[in-house]
Amino acid sequence: MTAASTPKTVTQPESFTFTKANLKTAKAIIARYPEGRQASAVLALLDLAQRQHDNWLPRAAMDAVAEMLDMPPIRVYEVATFYTMFNLAPVGRNFLQVCTTTPCWLCGSNEVLRACKDVLDIGPGESTADGSFSVVEVECLGACVNAPMLQLNDDYYEDLDYARTKALLEALKRGEAPDPGPQVARQASAPVTGPTTISETKV
Ligand code: FES
Repeated sequence: MTAASTPKTVTQPESFTFTKANLKTAKAIIARYPEGRQASAVLALLDLAQRQHDNWLPRAAMDAVAEMLDMPPIRVYEVATFYTMFNLAPVGRNFLQVCTTTPCWLCGSNEVLRACKDVLDIGPGESTADGSFSVVEVECLGACVNAPMLQLNDDYYEDLDYARTKALLEALKRGEAPDPGPQVARQASAPVTGPTTISETKV
């Protein structure tokens, strides 16, 4: 089992430059907004920068975005520090965001966190020493119907309990890629017991 690590200091790169492909994408995003309203592209550009930089945003990337959008850097820092979708320090390759807001908590998010602790030996705000997993607690991710749930990188895993979370994490540790979505036999967020309305259709 790998020991947990929580970096206290972050080594910041000296500079950040968009790749040629991402620069083209960034310019296309900026062009969607009227002249003088380029700042509206800040979220999209920060996301692009984070994806390019191993899922975290160094200060140099925020400064590069500020310069591209002609914004004071502090305004970009304000955005990046407000939204939990932006990571200001390195995170594991498997970045687990566990929702613990009321609906998920009532449906057992504590058991999801307990499975993370048991399988990965890390709690919220920690990463495994080998850099393969990080766990954070987040507020509602908008999938309350399928609570409790967690987000793994870009995918949602829903209808979790202790055993399903444990199975998911163990599969990830083996290098497998389990199907995202509900982890029980339901379609998307349809009732888990099957349709309760419009159960018959006529052609
Ligand atoms: S409360 Fe967890 S997704 Fe909404």
